[in-house]
Amino acid sequence: MERLPGFRDFYPEPLPDGEAWSASVRKDIFESWHNVAERYAFQLYDGPPLEPLSLFTAKSGQEIVGQLYNFEDKGERAVALRPEMTPTVARMVAARERHYKKPIKWYSIPQLFRYERQQKGRLREHFQFNADIFGEADPAADAELIAMLIDLLRDFDLTAEDFVIRLSSRNAWQDFFNQNGGDESKAYDFYQAVDKLERTAPEESEKKFQALGFTLEQVHNFIAAGEPTDELQAVLDNLAARGMSDFVKIDYNVIRGLAYYTGVVYEAFDRHGKFRAIAGGGRYDQLVSLVSGGKKNIPAAGFAMGDVVLVELLKDRKLLPEIHGNIEIYALLEDESKRPATLSMIQMLREEGWNVEYPLAPIKPDKQFRRALELGAELTVRIDDDESAVLKNLNTKIEKKMPIHELAEHLFKTICENDLE
Ligand code: HAM
Repeated sequence: MERLPGFRDFYPEPLPDGEAWSASVRKDIFESWHNVAERYAFQLYDGPPLEPLSLFTAKSGQEIVGQLYNFEDKGERAVALRPEMTPTVARMVAARERHYKKPIKWYSIPQLFRYERQQKGRLREHFQFNADIFGEADPAADAELIAMLIDLLRDFDLTAEDFVIRLSSRNAWQDFFNQNGGDESKAYDFYQAVDKLERTAPEESEKKFQALGFTLEQVHNFIAAGEPTDELQAVLDNLAARGMSDFVKIDYNVIRGLAYYTGVVYEAFDRHGKFRAIAGGGRYDQLVSLVSGGKKNIPAAGFAMGDVVLVELLKDRKLLPEIHGNIEIYALLEDESKRPATLSMIQMLREEGWNVEYPLAPIKPDKQFRRALELGAELTVRIDDDESAVLKNLNTKIEKKMPIHELAEHLFKTICENDLE
């Protein structure tokens, strides 16, 4: 049985081949995401992977709607696997915002599903770090989010030579569109054409813009001028105060494909231009009102970073987290009559918080020893007699006999203080 195209199996390390995805790397990445989010005082939330179809059809825009995994459930409800988290978090905030002090700073790590054409950096399932701020309209909130995005990437040792945040504004584009006589009902088509500009042949873009009453040259000139709006200048100044100017640049090529963005928007890209966007986000001040049928009106901004492009980028820069086995102690069982005593000792060690492995069935002592080395254990331990056990440091080969009840204390010294004399 094959897995579905665009879906992944995550294997433990060491990986069977270069194509396999690592569950251990994924754990490491998630840990880093949790740590950085908490450093920035964001709180964890989560929502359901299956939502009413209408949550997305009305809010995300045609592009994502075309990629939905949707079906009718047994209760004849039209449902969809979530393709993104933003409509869900907007719904959650609209429902319970009174309970929380503003600004609300929340993060989540959902798995998302999009029926995309498979290509480099784009699969049909991915994990996404999402961070959003609700209840603050000032560009200080956008800057806080962008600073966190920079630190999320720096946490993997990526530098300003590796990535850049391309900063833009839907407001700037909206002004350009209005000042040049754009028809408001076609604004979203115009944004879509700008969003695809870098991935579309110039003749095709020219046709699209002409149909909307613009020329490609006009659009190119606006992008080339790259004048920051006041809100963008405020974001740049805020990031400069944090010493983060090298990580951002104004770039009006970015406009974002999703329909709900209203103000500052941005995308993180690899400096060498080898990969699809690493992350993207922006302000979306109308979405909470939209999902609450106009009952709640709360400004919002946020971004999301996927795991797929991130892993590709880290692989390319040789920065993938190094994975070490998590077994600390291997309990040797050279004499089957000592199995009950060994199990009792293992239980005690595990209750103390040590990671312990041992042979489930009888195997030869040299095989046990090899297994301990393969697993990367630092120590072996074996029951000597009723009262004592022998610890062995696999690096120094030093052995020590001690009473079983003193084992835990010795282990602490050996592993945490590097001391087995
Ligand atoms: P998005 O640009 O659609 O934004 O996705 C954000 C990131 O998720 C992308 O930059 C990319 O790294 C990753 N990603 C998206 N689709 C795929 C895919 N098919 N395969 C692999 N990775 C993918 C959003 O989803 C917005 N909801 C972000 C947001 C949060 N805006 C405000 N708050």
